[in-house]
Amino acid sequence: MPTSIVLGTGRYLPDRCVTNAELERSMDTSDEWIRTRTGIEQRYWVTEGDVGAELAAKAATEALALAGLHATDLDAIVYATSTPDHFCPGNGVYLQRLLDAGTIPAIDVRTQCSGFVFALSVADAWIRCGMYRRILVVGQEIQSTRLDVSTAGRNTAVIFADGAGAVILGANEEAGRGILGFDLHADGQNAEKLWVDGPGAIYHPPVTQQALEAGKYFLSMDGREVFRHAVQRMPESVEAVLTAQGLTTTDIDLLIPHQANLRISEMVQRRLGLQDDQVYNNIQKFGNTTAGTIPIALDECVRSGRLTPGDLLVLTAFGSGFLWGSCVLRW
Ligand code: UT7
Repeated sequence: MPTSIVLGTGRYLPDRCVTNAELERSMDTSDEWIRTRTGIEQRYWVTEGDVGAELAAKAATEALALAGLHATDLDAIVYATSTPDHFCPGNGVYLQRLLDAGTIPAIDVRTQCSGFVFALSVADAWIRCGMYRRILVVGQEIQSTRLDVSTAGRNTAVIFADGAGAVILGANEEAGRGILGFDLHADGQNAEKLWVDGPGAIYHPPVTQQALEAGKYFLSMDGREVFRHAVQRMPESVEAVLTAQGLTTTDIDLLIPHQANLRISEMVQRRLGLQDDQVYNNIQKFGNTTAGTIPIALDECVRSGRLTPGDLLVLTAFGSGFLWGSCVLRW
């Protein structure tokens, strides 16, 4: 049975860099509060006219180039986003059209902050069962258009951001390399702790002026509860995915946690007993791009030479759903 290896990575951030100082102008917050409570110094937000699938296409083009492949070499697309450009169809087909990738299948995965880990698990399963050999896996979000940038929305507006990351996953026959396993979970009891109420098909009609005025279309979060669960679930999941492979945290060369809050990443690191050089964070520059954080960080690590063949890499994520999970792979 083949395993899956990463053949190439790419990322794309929109042009508009939004500093904490800029946010201070529209809400009651401060650069100091944002840095100390979240670690974020700046983030990238789209400007009018930017399209989510186009951000993904730019990241995918980078990933294809690094892999030395063309879009026509792909067998499938798995696209993680919680902020699709349209209600339907999903962003996968728009990306397929933009890349001119023929009629290959393209699906969306809607598991929010854990989106990239879940999308990777789908692509890995397709590869391991022999169905496909080269799959484009994308994590992309435009969060900024559904953030309340007044003081009422300050607990989400300062955190969430836009961006895209992409990975080309390929079948590998060489023993000892590639994705070793996943640990995936959901807990729908907490679905409304981090959610966007509308527009939704349960509402008749799905979009109304009244709902707009009530702020139903904004991302809403019980920050403390999400934080409390995140710092418990991510370490648990990392331990589980390693144990299943007969490995321990001392075997980790690099952990890339979902970039939700620098304090969360630091707590996860402490609970796992990892050193600073075993954990990669970039939330300071990019904020929380939801499904985009892990592939964006992975691309930075690949391009800066942070990963070398044989390294044990662990990815872990927690977020809206609640959904969480981890992936362990031998680079
Ligand atoms: O992507 C995965 C899902 N997301 C996460 O994992 C995020 C998880 N949660 C968090 O990161 C943190 O809970 C936040 C950064 C959202 C909030 O930090 P906190 O330390 O948990 O603050 P808090 O919610 O306990 O609020 C403390 C105070 C409150 O004021 P009062 O009630 O004490 O007067 C908030 O209103 O901080 C206030 N506050 C702010 N003040 C200035 C909340 N947001 C801001 C802000 N600027 N942006």
